[in-house]
Amino acid sequence: MTREIASPLPSLLTSYLDEVSKILDREAPLKDQVGAVGAATKRLVTSGLVLPPSLSRVQPGVPYTRNLVHEDPRKRFTVIAIIWGPSQETAIHDHVNWCVVGVLQGLARVTNFDRIDDGMVPGKAQLRVREQYLTKPGTVAELLPPPRSNVHQMADAGGGPTITIHTYGDPGTRARVFDLQAETYKTVELKFHNLEG
Ligand SMILES: [Fe+2]
Repeated sequence: MTREIASPLPSLLTSYLDEVSKILDREAPLKDQVGAVGAATKRLVTSGLVLPPSLSRVQPGVPYTRNLVHEDPRKRFTVIAIIWGPSQETAIHDHVNWCVVGVLQGLARVTNFDRIDDGMVPGKAQLRVREQYLTKPGTVAELLPPPRSNVHQMADAGGGPTITIHTYGDPGTRARVFDLQAETYKTVELKFHNLEG
């Protein structure tokens, strides 16, 4: 069952949701579908979209705020807004499925990692930084699912608030979190802060 998001969504967002739904209905290789979602996300985050207060509200006392924007009734995708306060950051992580990230506002720092182990030992992973860069509004990144390496970390780099829009090919509630020094990873459950009381 679809959970109700409190506020009416801006038409720019509902148009985006329709577009993503149509893209995923088309018969195409996943890489092409994710590329098309990336192009739609680029248009969304350069459209002048302003999130309603209920979606841009910062949850105090958490590492960063994840607000659910939309759950696809057919469970093909999920859209969330992440609101980053000054220097807030994610853990090093990857996703169980594809993911498209667009920067709507502010400055973010992205660090991408390569896995340099063979992936044969459950719970173990060796990582090496592949690249690090700053993004500005309008920047979009497309990530395909593992086993292709998509381990990454995102952080606010401009003093916040930075706002990013994430579209996932899954419920958006699970990620694998990596410990660089211990060379381990574990699966964690993630919350939507706007759905909490
Ligand atoms: Fe991520």
